[in-house]
Amino acid sequence: MSGWLVIAGLGPGDPRLWTAEVAEALTEATDVVGYTPYVARVADRAGLTKHASDNRVEIERATHALRMASEGQRVVVVSSGDPGVFAMAAAVFEALEAGPDTFRDLEIKVLPGITAMLAASAAAGAILGHDFCAINLSDNLKPWEVIEKRLRLAVDADFACAFYNPRSKARPEGFGRALELLKALCEPERLVTFARAVATPEETLITLPLAEATPDMADMRTVVLLGSSRTRRIERPGRSPIVYTPRWVPV
Ligand SMILES: C[S@@+](CC[C@H](N)C(=O)[O-])C[C@H]1O[C@@H](n2cnc3c(N)ncnc32)[C@H](O)[C@@H]1O
Repeated sequence: MSGWLVIAGLGPGDPRLWTAEVAEALTEATDVVGYTPYVARVADRAGLTKHASDNRVEIERATHALRMASEGQRVVVVSSGDPGVFAMAAAVFEALEAGPDTFRDLEIKVLPGITAMLAASAAAGAILGHDFCAINLSDNLKPWEVIEKRLRLAVDADFACAFYNPRSKARPEGFGRALELLKALCEPERLVTFARAVATPEETLITLPLAEATPDMADMRTVVLLGSSRTRRIERPGRSPIVYTPRWVPV
C-alpha cells in the first residue's frame, strides 16, 4: 500500500469532539506524530507506532512525518483543536515547500477539528456571534510590534477577539503588556472571558469586565476571548450566565 499523510485536529480535549473522519484516519494509521500530550490522547493499538516530541520542534516533526509517508507509511500528524489554527498544518507545508520533490508527490489531507476559540465561545454562549478575529500572542515567531499593531487594529475595527498562547513560563510578561494596551484602548466594562482547559475535566470559564482582568488569569491552557463593544451578559438565577455578541450593529 502506498503511504499517505493526514494532518488531523483532535479538538480541544474531549474525544467526543473528534470528527468521524479523524477517528477513521487514526484507525488506518501506521504512525502517529505530534507533541507529546496530543499523541498521548490517541489510544495504543497493535500496528500503531507513536512518535511524540517536544513543542519547539515543529519543522523537524513535520519533516519526519513527510519522510515516513514517502517511505510508504500511513502517517497522522496530530494537533490539538484545528490543525490549521496556530498548529501543525502550516508547519508541514513549510517543510514540504523546503523539502525534496518527492514530498510534493504525496497524498496529503488536512482534517479540521474544533478549535479552542469555538469551543470556548460555545461554552460561554456565543461570544464570537458576530465579526471576530484570532491573534496568537506568542512572539516566538513574530515581533512583538506586530502583535501590538494587530491588537490596535482589531480593537479599532470593533472585532471580538480570541487570543491564543496568551502566557507561558518562557513568556511571562507579554500578556500583561497586551492587557495594558487593551485596557487603554477599550472601555473598562468591556467583557473578557478566560476559558481554561475547555472540554476537559479541568475546564473553567471566568467572564469579567476588562478593568478587572489581571495577567495571572491566563496560562498556556487558556484561550482569552475579548468581546466587542456589543458583547453582553445575560444573568440567569441559579444558572451560569450567557455571554454573547448580537449578530447586528446599529445603523
Ligand atoms: C499552539 S496553540 C494550538 C491551537 C489549536 N490548534 C486549536 O485550534 O485550538 C495552543 C493554544 O491554544 C489554546 N487552547 C488549546 N486547547 C485549549 C483548551 N482546551 N482550552 C483553552 N484553550 C486552549 C490555548 O490558548 C493554547 O495556548
